[in-house]
Amino acid sequence: MEYKLETSPPAQVDSGLLVLGVFQDQTVADAIKDVQAGFSEQFLQKVIQFAQEENFKASSSEMLVLPTYGELPSKKLVLAGLGKSGDYSVQQARKLAGNIARRFCLNGKTEKVCFFVPNKDKDESLAQALVEGAILGSYSFNKYRSGKDDKKESNLQEIAVGGLKLQAADFDKACKQGEAIAESVNYARQLIAEPANYLTPSRLAEEARTRGQELGLTVEILEQPQIEKLGMGSFLGVARGAKELPHLIVMRYKHDQAKKTVALVGKGITFDSGGLSLKTAQSMEHMKYDMSGAACVIASALALAKLKPKVNLLVVVGATENMPGGQALHPGDVVTAMNGKTIEVNNTDAEGRLVLADALCYALQEGADEVVDVATLTGACVTALGRAAAGIMGNSQEFIDALIARGAEAGEKFWQLPMYDEYKESLKSDIADLKNAGSRGEAGTSCAAMFLKEFVDARPWVHMDVAGPSWLDKDKDELNKGGTAFGVRTLCYYVLNSKN
Ligand code: BES
Ligand code: ZN
Ligand code: ZN
Repeated sequence: MEYKLETSPPAQVDSGLLVLGVFQDQTVADAIKDVQAGFSEQFLQKVIQFAQEENFKASSSEMLVLPTYGELPSKKLVLAGLGKSGDYSVQQARKLAGNIARRFCLNGKTEKVCFFVPNKDKDESLAQALVEGAILGSYSFNKYRSGKDDKKESNLQEIAVGGLKLQAADFDKACKQGEAIAESVNYARQLIAEPANYLTPSRLAEEARTRGQELGLTVEILEQPQIEKLGMGSFLGVARGAKELPHLIVMRYKHDQAKKTVALVGKGITFDSGGLSLKTAQSMEHMKYDMSGAACVIASALALAKLKPKVNLLVVVGATENMPGGQALHPGDVVTAMNGKTIEVNNTDAEGRLVLADALCYALQEGADEVVDVATLTGACVTALGRAAAGIMGNSQEFIDALIARGAEAGEKFWQLPMYDEYKESLKSDIADLKNAGSRGEAGTSCAAMFLKEFVDARPWVHMDVAGPSWLDKDKDELNKGGTAFGVRTLCYYVLNSKN
């Protein structure tokens, strides 16, 4: 992708698509004047009249397309609604770029897009958000479409941004940062899109190894005998019912000047059938996406390996299937986690926390100063928050707040749920230290977090339950339907801005 800091006024820009942002509470004429477009009076009047005829209101994500018929060097002009000016932030710009890319570059032939949109934040943030939106919006997964015409390829080659007060070098840095993050998100989306008969735990491990090593990360894949040696009885319990073997994926990034190690821990269930506590056909349908947490942390490490922040990173993923094979855990079985705690598995479908328990212990053992885990952990979180936001919990309010704030900048919403002591009661077992599932229908997301808390000592820890926003049934702004790789942007923004 080429990036261009556009210094000419819109009337002189030579692009496939010239995009001008318009607020709902301003006139088209004012929006055009604000960017000093330099349109001829005649053309300006035509645009204004057309907008009136089409009843263009400039509400959020509304778009009006006008052919320029040689009156401008650019082929098409798009008036892009930005909603109310009071609600505006770079989030709207990211969404707009996503919608533009999907409509004109993925489903159209546009190669060059030039944006003139207002800005209330730092110019770097705007440029980065536009690049992220455009790259995310032009994603598609074609691997299994055999008909040539069914394949969607993006034609986008150049993203230009006008109206910025930036040095070329700063503009370039912002764009490259957006590119690294968005391309990693797209890579994670690809991993999630892969069906479980392709993306097995060993393939996931291989992906992490090859991609990670290409970027200079140290990647270690622990196989069953090593996992046994580590005493990960909880993780191995989940793997028992599957023919595919489990893998513990460990990726490391080191910086000379780093003062802390941030651990990112992911749930890597490449398919969740529920095990013997079998899911229904309907709730099993999309369960290939139960490795979204794993895809998220792996992809974050890849983006960060390119961007080189001054922190050490440790990524830990427990990868396995959750299947009801002949050796599968029986409800009521007791397993022992790496930290010695015994767990009565009263529900084999609450497998994510069993895998995370050992992965978290391992992250602590390997010297994590702070830990974030990302997991499609509970259906209850989808019920509570829908696809709009992830649940967030943890043992350090400061840490939780920091991630919520970075998420807001990155365009990902988090909503904190409580971790009251009462919830721990429901995890009491009659025969072991704790059981893995609480009472059905009662604060499932919080109970899961209470369970995880038993495996992080007092190390600063945040748990992200991304079960809802990791999957979309229809296109939404910068994301299209399917796996979204929710969390990559937040984690990257967090690590890039965290003090060393
Ligand atoms: N992977 C599921 C959670 C899930 C459900 C993710 C729906 C996305 C959409 C998880 O392993 C699970 O099955 N959790 C159980 C826990 C319960 C048995 C305590 C759930 O949410 O029903
Ligand atoms: Zn499950
Ligand atoms: Zn699961």
